[in-house]
Amino acid sequence: MGTRAQVEGLREARSAEKFDLGGRVALPGFVDSHTHLIHAASRAEEYELKIQGVSYEEIAQKGGGILNSVKKLRAATAAALKSRARAALEEFASYGTTTVEAKSGYGLDVASELKILNLQRELRSEQPLEIVSTFLGAHVPPAEFRGNPDGRDRYVELLLDHMLPEIARRRLAEFCDVFCDRGAFTRTQSKRILTAAQKQGLASRLHAEQLSRTGATRLGVALRAVSCDHLERVNAADIRALAQSETAATLLPGCDFHLGSNRYAPARALIAAGAIVVLATDYNPGTSPTVSMPMVLSLACTQLRMSPAEAITASTINAAYALRREKSIGSLEPGKEADLAVFEVEDYREIPYYFGMQRCWMTMKKGEIVHMKD
Ligand code: NIG
Ligand code: FE
Repeated sequence: MGTRAQVEGLREARSAEKFDLGGRVALPGFVDSHTHLIHAASRAEEYELKIQGVSYEEIAQKGGGILNSVKKLRAATAAALKSRARAALEEFASYGTTTVEAKSGYGLDVASELKILNLQRELRSEQPLEIVSTFLGAHVPPAEFRGNPDGRDRYVELLLDHMLPEIARRRLAEFCDVFCDRGAFTRTQSKRILTAAQKQGLASRLHAEQLSRTGATRLGVALRAVSCDHLERVNAADIRALAQSETAATLLPGCDFHLGSNRYAPARALIAAGAIVVLATDYNPGTSPTVSMPMVLSLACTQLRMSPAEAITASTINAAYALRREKSIGSLEPGKEADLAVFEVEDYREIPYYFGMQRCWMTMKKGEIVHMKD
């Protein structure tokens, strides 16, 4: 990296292969720090209900939503789940993404959660993109634990006594996430889970203030979580707390767009306060069925009022930070991995400017071409 003369003057340059990008724009590959990669099927049937005016939470209360995906995942074979995820990973690469965080959370019993995390481990070695695993057993309490009043706490016990230790022992996840919200887990339950996970070596991340303001962000900051994600309903004190912390603020505008909500996270206030703002797709079948980071950048610019430069920073180096990989990926620097996304544009601002369009010309992971537009 540097001027042409500087680069050509390097000793390593003599044996380097020359690759002409034809004047296109090259960025560090996108780091997608929040996805629910492994799921069995779309929820297009719910999409239609949402368009008719039924809310995401109403659908969930009737046993749809996340529980719908849990039913489908438990019935699916490992082979079917893997081939769906592999196809999605190829699509991630085709939009310029080179690192993907992946959460479990559609299994919600010991065997199914382990099945998801094992598949993520297999995928890591079977295809070129880097996969970072997060355990999200605390997505929602599963249906079989909802029959009696203390069922939700019983599920937390199962998670603490049987899921976490097994996952930690087999080193199946680097992070533990909790959906701390109305209808999911309380702050007290979230704290218990995240604290236990930290003791077993899993760093924390949270789904925070998405559907209601629960104080999950403050909990995350207090626990030194790596990231608090969503943040549509943060208040001024939450913004200050994030700004004064080392916890990243991950915004997922694809969710609000897909759910038809006009309540986006306050990106400008977070940036003004000094928070570490990250953008991710939240690829999942319920709230954000997209793998396209360029589309997320378009939403960040038009809806969150982020500048194209801020949006690119948020989806590369800041996102690498939110996965604790800022030393190896997320920017083009000597010593880092050669993860590149090359766009067929004349100006980097055209990446978010053209929305919903496929302008990624080439993607490179660790120096190997993983996508080339034909
Ligand atoms: O990030 N909020 C919780 N989890 C996902 C949605 C999961 C689903 O609806 O399947 C999210 O929005
Ligand atoms: Fe999510």
